Amino acid sequence: MKFFIDTADVGEIKKALALGLCDGVTTNPSLVAKTGRGFEDVLKEIVQLVPGPISAEVTATDYEGMLREGRHYAKFGEQVVIKVPLIVEGLRAVKTLTDEGTKVNVTLCFSPVQALLAAKAGATYISPFVGRLDDISQDGMAMVGDIVQIYRNYGFKTQVLVASVRHPVHVLEAAKLGADVATIPYSVIEQLAKHPLTDAGLKKFLADWEKVPKASK
Ligand code: G3P
Repeated sequence: MKFFIDTADVGEIKKALALGLCDGVTTNPSLVAKTGRGFEDVLKEIVQLVPGPISAEVTATDYEGMLREGRHYAKFGEQVVIKVPLIVEGLRAVKTLTDEGTKVNVTLCFSPVQALLAAKAGATYISPFVGRLDDISQDGMAMVGDIVQIYRNYGFKTQVLVASVRHPVHVLEAAKLGADVATIPYSVIEQLAKHPLTDAGLKKFLADWEKVPKASK
């Protein structure tokens, strides 16, 4: 499973790259707003840092506008993937951009049939938002399981990119289901590495090491 980092914060991207845990990046308008920077500056910088896929989201909601923004961002680098919302106009844009050779990530997916439509339109990635479904007492990972099954049934090439990941169990379940990618906030990447028994074991080893006679100088 590939690890994308879900952020527009260049500092976090550098930290994930240094860990070897940044196969790609996903951004969205909310993540960009958090940085306080202009999106084009941020995107230019990410393109210099990350060779893997970088999702840049359109904010137009009409077909022509989505195409205009998508074609513009696609020029920033060949690894740029255009992120388009899962609405009817968005599906039209997916089809056109895909036909032009641009990779598209269809975002804001909340049901397996929406994911089926995105795959039929030719999307490179589908982004089911698991955390936001959990937030309204629906099972986000069950949706991912259904999408994986439907794509396998028909041999769709669209990659399942699990988004709205909030904690390590989402990553675990995504991996068990065979999702292609999880896009993960940096804080969750760090949580994945942590285990209380690792910390306790390390503390004990270091304490015992103090009892070992040291070579005289
Ligand atoms: O990139 C989109 C997605 O991951 C958003 O997550 O936590 O805002 O639901 P969240």
